[in-house]
Amino acid sequence: MENDKVRIHDKNFKIFITRDEIKARVNEMGWEVTKKYKDLKPVFVPILNGSFMFAADFVRACHFDSDMMFVKVKSYEGMSSTGNIKWELGFSGHIKGRHIIIVEDIIDSGNTLKNFIEEIKEEEPASVAIVSLLLKPDAIKHDIPMDYIGFRIPNAFVVGYGLDYDDFGRTLPDIYQLDED
Ligand code: IMP
Ligand code: MG
Repeated sequence: MENDKVRIHDKNFKIFITRDEIKARVNEMGWEVTKKYKDLKPVFVPILNGSFMFAADFVRACHFDSDMMFVKVKSYEGMSSTGNIKWELGFSGHIKGRHIIIVEDIIDSGNTLKNFIEEIKEEEPASVAIVSLLLKPDAIKHDIPMDYIGFRIPNAFVVGYGLDYDDFGRTLPDIYQLDED
């Protein structure tokens, strides 16, 4: 059973999306992606750190052969997107002609994905799709393809299920939203 409220560093957070709601939606997304990719042996590319928990559940909700390739990026300091993208681990080779499914925890400004899509297209994949558990439609600044979105959420900071606030809160099984009251 989830807690209604958590405190991380100096901030209070309230329950927003429970583990059961996440599980149900991730399973739906898995079947949707399976319909399209079941014969394509795509490559899942989770963007670490944030997407590790979603990616682990999502790939198990997809019912087809696939490969996995992880990349790591950091563009966030505290609660705001810096727009300054730091790749901490590059992706290398072996994706030419393959169908790529980028797996993200959340799309906020879209800076990270815009930059990553440009990088990955240089490797000449057959196609590139984006799966993101969360999307903040009011925050997005770029026109990027959004193929599979779990939840469209308001423009408030969230933690849990892989998402952190300055490295804390990642391991919470549910998603919490900043409580400003
Ligand atoms: P973007 O580049 O602004 O779209 O942000 C991308 C990354 O910032 C996401 O993949 C997350 O890792 C992180 N991020 C964005 N919004 C939040 C949030 O509300 N909570 C925690 N991390 C976030
Ligand atoms: Mg992320």
